[in-house]
Amino acid sequence: MKVLVAVGSKYGSTREIGSAIAKRLDSAGLEVTFSDACDVFGVDFFDAVIVGSAVYNRTWRKDATALVKDHKDALSAMPVWTFSVGMEKMVRHEDPELDITKLVRDIGARDHHYFSGALDFAKLNMGEKALIRALNPPIGDYRDFTDVEAWTDGIVSELVARAAL
Ligand SMILES: Cc1cc2nc3c(=O)[nH]c(=O)nc-3n(C[C@H](O)[C@H](O)[C@H](O)COP(=O)(O)O)c2cc1C
Repeated sequence: MKVLVAVGSKYGSTREIGSAIAKRLDSAGLEVTFSDACDVFGVDFFDAVIVGSAVYNRTWRKDATALVKDHKDALSAMPVWTFSVGMEKMVRHEDPELDITKLVRDIGARDHHYFSGALDFAKLNMGEKALIRALNPPIGDYRDFTDVEAWTDGIVSELVARAAL
């Protein structure tokens, strides 16, 4: 079974979560392709897709959003899982009026999971630093790879069950 894991990431923390998901799927015997969302040109080749993005200013990154929008029909016809990566205490993406919530609903994703991310103040540009100073979220690496593995294991179970049908 061929599975695509695609991510929208600016500073790499989401990419590392996506990579951990891909490795876990690979260990379970699935045929995995791991890619930045901007490098994905089609999804038809795959049997299932997992797409995730860092959340910036309450929404997904453009490349991950475009991947879902551009391939909405194909994704709607296959099992898809989505995830967001963001910082606790910042405005979260689950707001029903936000773009990504609607997109996830539109493609009928099997599940949408929120993972805690990482914020390295020193890496940010001036505008980002100003925003972060104003919002004052916790700074640091809050990623929980046990949570990532547990979520991935749920996907593996579902894909293995589907493959057996
Ligand atoms: C300018 C800026 C805006 C952010 N906005 C949000 C937000 O609206 N909601 C949220 O949960 N996290 C927000 N974050 C936190 C990022 O989503 C988090 O740091 C994430 O791990 C970054 O992923 P990346 O390293 O893959 O780019 C923001 C971070 C920055 C620097």
